[in-house]
Amino acid sequence: MRSIILSSPAKLNLFLKVLEKRSDGYHGLKTVFERISLCDDIRFKSTKSDQIKITCDHPHVPVGPKNLVYQVAQLLRKDYGIEKGVEIDITKRIPVAAGLAGGSSNAATALLGLNRLWGINLTKKTLIEYGKRVGSDVPFFLHDCSWGLGTHRGDHIKPLSVDAKMWHILVVPRIKMYSGEVFARFKMKLTKQGDDVNILLRSLRKCNIYKVTEFLSNDLEQSILQIRPGLIRVKKRLESFLSQGVCFSGSGPAVFGITSSKKEAENIKAVLKKRYSQVFVVQTL
Ligand code: C5P
Repeated sequence: MRSIILSSPAKLNLFLKVLEKRSDGYHGLKTVFERISLCDDIRFKSTKSDQIKITCDHPHVPVGPKNLVYQVAQLLRKDYGIEKGVEIDITKRIPVAAGLAGGSSNAATALLGLNRLWGINLTKKTLIEYGKRVGSDVPFFLHDCSWGLGTHRGDHIKPLSVDAKMWHILVVPRIKMYSGEVFARFKMKLTKQGDDVNILLRSLRKCNIYKVTEFLSNDLEQSILQIRPGLIRVKKRLESFLSQGVCFSGSGPAVFGITSSKKEAENIKAVLKKRYSQVFVVQTL
């Protein structure tokens, strides 16, 4: 039986502004996504049975209907009358519920993989519509871009023509944070909307990495710290190496810093790995 192996990357948010609470319960966002080189691998194998069978080497990943990959497979089978089954094996490297969108990226990869495996030939536009149905972060991974500006729920993506390649040090405390909980704690402030995202985007386009570090921000930080106050120590530890350019990604707990080189990131990792078990050096993908 035919099989396909695809890589499923993580993301960072260099900027995340919460603009409004929407009537559907979600929050309106403006966010800058970066695709990074921390990836899961997913193998899709067509089977004669009519089952969707998911296996994963990570004990905390659900392998039934709670898994977004399972949901994608089920939706496509139903909508396109697919009779074949599939075995999907996920090799996890992206920490789970960490603000890195590992589950959403897996769902996007499943849309791409199953579209090929089952020969459904859906257009990118249709795949994106399916992506939106399973999670706000899914559409970014269906665009063929390293950088994207997300609006609405974060699910409307404008790919950015940015050549900047950055190195990061990424620390992921072994704590799971659920986006729903973090957003629920968020309190809208009546602040004037600044021009920060435009300055950040201009600096990215010019590959002015130093200026980018000045404009990193994440409106969810306060809510993340309300749930897990101890995470401030992780952020401060990173800031002791990098005076600016340190930020939480998404709804946390992943914290990253922008470094000037791979070497600088490796040097910081050498120190931090004595204290934290999940420290990564990653690059824009
Ligand atoms: O879209 P996704 O299923 O990843 O979102 C998980 C939860 O995060 C939602 O149920 C919602 O509570 C919250 N969320 C939000 N606004 C967004 C994205 C997510 O409130 N733009």
